[in-house]
Amino acid sequence: MDKLPQNPFQFFVLLLFFASGFASGQSGDNVSITLADLQSLKALKSEFIDSKGFLKSWNDTGSRACSGDWVGIKCVKGQVIAVQLPWKGLGGKISEKIGQLQGLRRLSLHDNGLTGPVPNSLASLPNLRGVYLFNNRLSGSIPASIGRCPVLQTLDLSKNQLTGTIFPSIANSTRLYRLNLSFNLISGSIPVSLSLSPSLTFLALQYNNLSGSVPDSWGSGTENKTYQLQILNLDHNLISGKIPTSLSKLGSLEMLSLSHNRFNGTIPNELGALSKLQMLDLSDNVINGKIPESIDKLQNLSVLNLKNNHFNGQIPETLGDISTIAQLDLSNNNFSGEIPNSLSKLPQLTSFNVSLNNLSGLVPLLLSKKFNSSSFVGNRQLCGYSPSFPCPSPPPHQILPSPSQDGSKHRHHKFSTKDITLIAAGALLVVLLLLCCALLYCLIKRKAKAKGVNGKNATQAKAVPALGAEVEAVGEAGGKLVHFDGPFIFAANDLLCATAEIMGKSMYGTIYKASLEDGNHVVVKRLREKMAKGQKEFEAEVAELGKIRHPNILALRAYYLGPKGEKLLVFDHMPNGSLASFLHARGPETAVTWPTRMKIAMGVTRGLYYLHTQENIIHGNLTSSNVLLDEQSNPKISDVGLSRLMTTAANANVIATEGSLGYRAPELSKVKNATTKTNIYSLGVIILELLTGKSPSEGTDGVDLPQWVASIVKEEWTNEVFDVELMREDTFNSSDELLNTLKLALHCVDPSPAARPEAKHVLQQLEEIKPELVAISGDDGAKDSSKCDKRTSYMSELD
Ligand SMILES: *[C@@H]1O[C@H](CO)[C@@H](O)[C@H](O)[C@H]1NC(C)=O
Ligand SMILES: *[C@@H]1O[C@H](CO)[C@@H](O)[C@H](O)[C@H]1NC(C)=O
Ligand SMILES: *[C@@H]1O[C@H](CO)[C@@H](O)[C@H](O)[C@H]1NC(C)=O
Ligand SMILES: *[C@@H]1O[C@H](CO)[C@@H](O)[C@H](O)[C@H]1NC(C)=O
Ligand SMILES: *[C@@H]1O[C@H](CO)[C@@H](O)[C@H](O)[C@H]1NC(C)=O
Ligand SMILES: *[C@@H]1O[C@H](CO)[C@@H](O)[C@H](O)[C@H]1NC(C)=O
Ligand SMILES: *[C@@H]1O[C@H](CO)[C@@H](O)[C@H](O)[C@H]1NC(C)=O
Ligand SMILES: *[C@@H]1O[C@H](CO)[C@@H](O)[C@H](O)[C@H]1NC(C)=O
Ligand SMILES: *[C@@H]1O[C@H](CO)[C@@H](O)[C@H](O)[C@H]1NC(C)=O
Ligand SMILES: *[C@@H]1O[C@H](CO)[C@@H](O)[C@H](O)[C@H]1NC(C)=O
Ligand SMILES: *[C@@H]1O[C@H](CO)[C@@H](O)[C@H](O)[C@H]1NC(C)=O
Ligand SMILES: *[C@@H]1O[C@H](CO)[C@@H](O)[C@H](O)[C@H]1NC(C)=O
Repeated sequence: MDKLPQNPFQFFVLLLFFASGFASGQSGDNVSITLADLQSLKALKSEFIDSKGFLKSWNDTGSRACSGDWVGIKCVKGQVIAVQLPWKGLGGKISEKIGQLQGLRRLSLHDNGLTGPVPNSLASLPNLRGVYLFNNRLSGSIPASIGRCPVLQTLDLSKNQLTGTIFPSIANSTRLYRLNLSFNLISGSIPVSLSLSPSLTFLALQYNNLSGSVPDSWGSGTENKTYQLQILNLDHNLISGKIPTSLSKLGSLEMLSLSHNRFNGTIPNELGALSKLQMLDLSDNVINGKIPESIDKLQNLSVLNLKNNHFNGQIPETLGDISTIAQLDLSNNNFSGEIPNSLSKLPQLTSFNVSLNNLSGLVPLLLSKKFNSSSFVGNRQLCGYSPSFPCPSPPPHQILPSPSQDGSKHRHHKFSTKDITLIAAGALLVVLLLLCCALLYCLIKRKAKAKGVNGKNATQAKAVPALGAEVEAVGEAGGKLVHFDGPFIFAANDLLCATAEIMGKSMYGTIYKASLEDGNHVVVKRLREKMAKGQKEFEAEVAELGKIRHPNILALRAYYLGPKGEKLLVFDHMPNGSLASFLHARGPETAVTWPTRMKIAMGVTRGLYYLHTQENIIHGNLTSSNVLLDEQSNPKISDVGLSRLMTTAANANVIATEGSLGYRAPELSKVKNATTKTNIYSLGVIILELLTGKSPSEGTDGVDLPQWVASIVKEEWTNEVFDVELMREDTFNSSDELLNTLKLALHCVDPSPAARPEAKHVLQQLEEIKPELVAISGDDGAKDSSKCDKRTSYMSELD
């Protein structure tokens, strides 16, 4: 049987043909065949080699030729309009005399053994619409003149042995709809004229010897025409050069295959405009660069094959937004970074391959379950997808050190990605378990929590001596107050006479909340006298600290130097208190949602990133008590740069004792100086705190928080890792986010400082995990930093 017509116009023509050709049932046309047509058919038969005898019916003088007795012949009014002899085992040649069939519309001789050339005389057939000669052994070149056929719609010469080039004039047939020259030996380049044809809907030139570059004029032939091209297949040729940007104008394109060529350059970002594209195959070329961001606009993409190229950069997370993807092959490129977890959410993914790249980290759990190791091998730093490729795992005795070990001996365990796989599995189980017995469980938890809170409050609410009194004691006269920019205007007396309550004490000194005359609150930190540097040094350092402005760093607004060397620092007051109390000392009715926790994690990271990169400041003591929250729970890192105000001895002391708080990186027991990496460790602990709801110093059976999490992973991973509150709220859909954040936090508390990520990477990953939070906070940051650049810091000396 012939191929079914695919365009409406062609279908209409066939209907006409049936209507006229078979108006009287099976009898056909009872008009005698014209002499020219009879001669032509006889010539055809004489040049065919009909070894199976299919043409035996072409035996009489021709009186029956148009009456339906001659196999494969259809006539209208004595003119042959169709010659259809597929699968007839015909050999020999197609006679040039075919040009005499002036009424011929359809020539279908596919799937035979015909040899010789495609007759030139086809070009003289004014009504020729369809030529189906595929799967023969035709040779020679495509007749240059075929473009003269004014109504030619389909030319399928695929699977022959045609040579020569494609003449530009082939596109002179302005109704050309399907051009299939695939599986031949055609050489030369693709004529520009084909790229300009508005009617062309299927262009199949694969498996030839085409070379040169692809014209970059697709869809720009005629103004105001819509271009129909749905399939463009150029694979298995020798085509080189760039992928033409103009392909993006082919709004109907559903399949684009350029594989097995020599395409180089990058994927044009504009290809994102191909919203109907279902298949994009660029495999086996030398294409480089990144997968463009616009890829996620291809919302109907089902097959994406980029294998065997030189692509680099990260696999875009947004690929996971194309829910239609069923096959994804990125193998044998130079992709780096991690496999985005978003890919594991692709509902229709049935084939996946990222082998032979430069990927790292843990394979997302669902992907490693669904696909065997053949999809992942050949990435030196990728692990956890099969027992033969485990993530590096430490000997078991390190995982749960005895609780009797003191802080200085803490050996932090490196959590392997395999461990994290276990966490993932465990956490999923937890989610399920919790769903099952949620009500009972939650009620019990609520009660327990309420009790804990009350106990904590009792120790925290303290008697309230007035700040004024304390300052009076050291004498007021002759002091010096220096303001940095900020909203507050107060004189030294205002500050010293303000009512104040103690908020807490730290290694650096005592912290007060002071209520000014005008009703504003500020936080005043009184530094321990013996620990601070001398006045000159102190003033130089504090002036620098007063310039730091960032939305996630608590602003230093002023300082006061008393006549006897007392030193007060004045900061913004944060109504929501510290993260530690926000998280651990609240009523059971105030839940902290997952987005809030993520916002805090991102904010702290952003602040730290700013400190490390813009201010070159290492935080001396990053803990959840030093992260304060404003009305919207935006975090502000406090105690920034305080170590600069202190003597070296004082700082060593702080670092030494800080360990007991559970935020101290293990290497600080050997080296005395905090680094960006010890800060990252502390950040990791804070993120773990946000995830687990547990304070690093309590509720973890005497081990520190990272070790506690590790013990859960290793020993009893059905236990809860995440804060039960996060399981209670509607975070079931966020379980990937939770897992990825946990993974990231564990990366931050890696015992090896070198293995810990930079703040920048932590931020990037958090933003990838919860991108919907980025727009808001990112804007904030941008606004503030521009303000920061323009700011001319001033110091106005009062008193
Ligand atoms: C066949 O031709 C005769 C006249 O030549 C005409 O009367 C008749 O209707 C035709 N039959 C068909 C089926 O077209
Ligand atoms: C022509 O072929 C047909 C069908 O094969 C057959 O019925 C008929 O007898 C043949 N006529 C002659 C003259 O051979
Ligand atoms: C194709 O069209 C061009 C211009 O329209 C003309 O110059 C050329 O001769 C045509 N070629 C054929 C083979 O008809
Ligand atoms: C072109 O021809 C090849 C081989 O005959 C066939 O597999 C393919 O489906 C055809 N493509 C189009 C668009 O006609
Ligand atoms: C293919 O083209 C190259 C040059 O582009 C030529 O060297 C080679 O002989 C061609 N192969 C065939 C089978 O035509
Ligand atoms: C194309 O359309 C625009 C506006 O629709 C019109 O101004 C222009 O003349 C058209 N061009 C042609 C060649 O029809
Ligand atoms: C890409 O291919 C073209 C054609 O072979 C070549 O001229 C060009 O130098 C190549 N570009 C790169 C960057 O390799
Ligand atoms: C997407 O592709 C499907 C076939 O896979 C098709 O039915 C649907 O119309 C396409 N949608 C768009 C918007 O092109
Ligand atoms: C892979 O990419 C890295 C940079 O990310 C580059 O240094 C390296 O040369 C690339 N390797 C190959 C084989 O292209
Ligand atoms: C792998 O990627 C890293 C950075 O991501 C790069 O430094 C390294 O050169 C890459 N390795 C190879 C073999 O391309
Ligand atoms: C991996 O899966 C692929 C296809 O899913 C299969 O062809 C292959 O045999 C499998 N390999 C192993 C080692 O199981
Ligand atoms: C993945 O790709 C590699 C290289 O392209 C290939 O060897 C391997 O068979 C592929 N595996 C699967 C499951 O497709």
